[in-house]
Amino acid sequence: MKFFVDTANLEEIKEAYSLGVLDGVTTNPSLMAKVGVKGNDAVMKHYKSICEIVDGDVSAEVIATDFAGMVREGEALAEIDPKIVVKIPMIKDGIKAIRYFSDNGIKTNCTLVFSAGQALLAAKAGATYVSPFIGRLDDIGFEGVDLIAQIVMIYQTYNYPTQVLAASIRHTSHLIRCAELGADVATCPLKVITDLLNHPLTDKGLEQFLADAKKMQ
Ligand code: E4P
Repeated sequence: MKFFVDTANLEEIKEAYSLGVLDGVTTNPSLMAKVGVKGNDAVMKHYKSICEIVDGDVSAEVIATDFAGMVREGEALAEIDPKIVVKIPMIKDGIKAIRYFSDNGIKTNCTLVFSAGQALLAAKAGATYVSPFIGRLDDIGFEGVDLIAQIVMIYQTYNYPTQVLAASIRHTSHLIRCAELGADVATCPLKVITDLLNHPLTDKGLEQFLADAKKMQ
């Protein structure tokens, strides 16, 4: 399973990368706004800086919602670095844009996916990644991880090469369920990745080993 960190914060990306387990980065306009990046030039420079930190795919989202605008923005984003994956919302023109980029060798991530039907459309349009948002489904009373299971089954049945990128992951149980269900990628905040380290028996065991090690000195 690949781990992507879901942030536009360069320090967090560097920290995640330093762990040696990071495979990529996802961003969205809310995450970019959160780090205070303003203006087209600054946005493009920021994506470039992210690409310089990681060895892997970096999702950069278009703002346009019409086909021509998405193509224009996506082509400009793809020019920044070969690591850029153009992130496109699951809307009608988005599907057309994904088909266009797929036919032109540009990687895409179809975002804001909340149903198996949407995931099927994204795969048929040739998306590189599909991003089902499981935490946001939980927020409205659905079992978000059930959608991951559905999409994985459909993609396996038809051998679609689109990778299932489980998004909106809020805690380690989400991530582990996604791993069990066969999601190709999990994107999550840095804290979810570092929380995987924690177990009280690890802390207790280490304390004991260190105490016993002192006896040997
Ligand atoms: C994925 O690409 C999105 O950026 C992200 O996972 C959304 O997560 P949220 O629901 O916690 O905002």
